[in-house]
Amino acid sequence: MNIFELRFVNIGIFFLLIFSSGYWLHHAGKPYGAILFNVHKLIGFGLFVFLIVRIYQLNHTTPLSAVEWLAFVIAGLFFIATIVFGGLVSIDKPMPAVVALAHKLLPYLTVVSTAISLYLLLRHK
Ligand code: HEM
Repeated sequence: MNIFELRFVNIGIFFLLIFSSGYWLHHAGKPYGAILFNVHKLIGFGLFVFLIVRIYQLNHTTPLSAVEWLAFVIAGLFFIATIVFGGLVSIDKPMPAVVALAHKLLPYLTVVSTAISLYLLLRHK
């Protein structure tokens, strides 16, 4: 396993942490424990920022193709939507059921689209 693949494993571990803390929050219910809630949202947001910085750096050394950009933009939009709906689901006001549903489904779309983008990067020359 090279350094590049090792980084992908790290990203997978962060997703595992976000998902497990998310399921934990769901089962514990409101009011959410402060530590768990902050771990969940900070790792989620931190991973998003980390990926943007890494893509920016990579594009600087070897420019990304149009297909790679498209994959990253789609993954980025899913990430943003997941974070926004996560914020909405966590506020104390009653929200339409679609908000909770969105923060149930969007995380999977985020993982799949991020995995596809990273797979494309593995073949990046
Ligand atoms: C990429 C970022 C994120 C991912 C992948 C993610 C993923 C998840 C998952 C899988 C769940 C369990 C959903 C369920 O089955 O009920 C969950 C729950 C939750 N997430 Fe996130 N999340 C992210 C970001 C955030 C952020 C930024 C916030 C808050 C600002 C947040 C707040 C919550 C809350 C409050 C719950 C519990 C919802 C409930 O009680 O049903 N999440 N998250």
